[in-house]
Amino acid sequence: MTIPYPPPLTDTPEWSALMNHRPQLDGLPLRELFERDPQRYPRMTLQAAGLTLDYSRNRVTDQTLGLLTALARARGLPERVEALFRGERLNTTEDRPALHTALRQHTDEPVRVDGDDIMPAVSDTLARMETFTNAVRSGERKGMGGEPITDVVSIGIGGSYLGPLTATEALTPFQSERPRCHYVANVDGSDIWETLRSLNPATTLFLVQSKSFTTQETLANARVARQWFLNGGGTEATVQHHFAAVTANADRAREFGIAGDSIFPMWDWVGGRYSLWSAIGLPLALAVGMPRFRELLVGAHAMDQHFRKAPPEQNMPMLMGLLGLWYMHGFGAESQAVIPYDHYLRHLPEHLQQLDMESNGKRVCHDGSPVSHHTGPVIWGGPGVNGQHAYHQLLHQGTRLVPVDFILPLTSHNPVYGHHAMLTANCLAQARALMLGRTEQEVYAAMIAEGMADDEARRLAPHRAIPGNRPSNLLTMEQLEPATLGALIALYEHRTFVQAAIWHINPFDQWGVELGKEIGGQILPALKGEPDAGMALDSATAGQIARFRAAQGSDSGAG
Ligand code: F6P
Repeated sequence: MTIPYPPPLTDTPEWSALMNHRPQLDGLPLRELFERDPQRYPRMTLQAAGLTLDYSRNRVTDQTLGLLTALARARGLPERVEALFRGERLNTTEDRPALHTALRQHTDEPVRVDGDDIMPAVSDTLARMETFTNAVRSGERKGMGGEPITDVVSIGIGGSYLGPLTATEALTPFQSERPRCHYVANVDGSDIWETLRSLNPATTLFLVQSKSFTTQETLANARVARQWFLNGGGTEATVQHHFAAVTANADRAREFGIAGDSIFPMWDWVGGRYSLWSAIGLPLALAVGMPRFRELLVGAHAMDQHFRKAPPEQNMPMLMGLLGLWYMHGFGAESQAVIPYDHYLRHLPEHLQQLDMESNGKRVCHDGSPVSHHTGPVIWGGPGVNGQHAYHQLLHQGTRLVPVDFILPLTSHNPVYGHHAMLTANCLAQARALMLGRTEQEVYAAMIAEGMADDEARRLAPHRAIPGNRPSNLLTMEQLEPATLGALIALYEHRTFVQAAIWHINPFDQWGVELGKEIGGQILPALKGEPDAGMALDSATAGQIARFRAAQGSDSGAG
């Protein structure tokens, strides 16, 4: 089914109705919305796939929500969701489907790409992953000296790094003693150097994770790893036993010297930032075991089912995506904060940065016409409570409205005395403080009550007043475990898709990264003193190249 191109978003009656409604919210602060309706919280709470979304602290009325879901329907969102799951070629510039949902589908119901059912290959890869991880974790697959593998180093970047890293850290409580999992991404030599310095080549397994197997940073690090291994007693024969690859380009992996039975497939119909569920999740599976990896898939699938079946009014990814649009287009919000009140989720904002910003950082619609509005927000955040002592000042008293997603497991894996109650108190307090604020009159009265002189209280009141009326979502779960983590990451994948569908942009390509890569390839020879391609460089780049070469000393190859 080819979905017709909708009219420009800002030309639609549903957009106009929503924007015409916007001024009504100026006279309805969140304080008042809660005072008017004691049932606001239970009415604006939604469960799905082990997650609970409390969206009551959003600057919306029932009418707002109705206008948002009307916009979603007018943009064909339910039909586009169906098209996504059915493998329509929604990645229109690369003429590909985006079937990360098939990776966690778990049933053998056929999903076809070019007429071929892809599910046998998905199941086969999961079975191969299981055999491989069991062999490594049991010690059956040994290193060159006959010892079990103690450490796995995953070499990859972007989607071949951030998803597995985030999930491995998130599931720390489920990790086994062996193998320990390490991640190398950056081509800053310090990254791989710091990782390898404490490892033993005889008991280290490398995973080269790269869908294209052409990413410069990853190949450079893989070569260093290979040389480190050979310098540490390895041989061309034993390299085979210490290197595996996950890639859509098996030929290049074999050229690198990785044996065919240690190469796991990826497919063009899975985007890098959506590939955690594929063999790119191998380091995670090695760290926590295949059963836990399958539980992750189960959780993501439960969120898929919810996303595919629930009407917009009861649909968690749709509501979160629509609320994000509301703040962007109705309130001028330029960013979205994601603040997990959980140490193990501290990398989640980084993963969501790539997921959302590389998907929706676009400026033209599917048909190439320029958008007439902002698209993807800046995604940022970090673990609570740490942010309270870093950037929450801006959230509370800054001039910008920054919508916040708080994430909070209700039980901790490590019930250190009283800590989880304190963590939870802080999370709930931040959401309440953002909503409630404190007026100048209230802060003045509080200072007077503390005995402050009137003139001092009047002087300080404007500085201490907190505007409040700032929106947040609160996502909770009983505990952070493989299934709830899978549901959480799938939730954000679908939230990203919802916004792209409303904007009618392609969330599955990333042409914007190509120019930088190309220029990098032109500059590198000049930095090394090799004859450059005679390119005409701007004075700043040429000047910096000269400074770099001077800093390396007279020899031309360093650096
Ligand atoms: O940043 C561009 C990009 O292609 C990402 O989309 C991708 O996740 C990353 O580079 C790594 O690509 P590969 O897995 O092909 O090495």
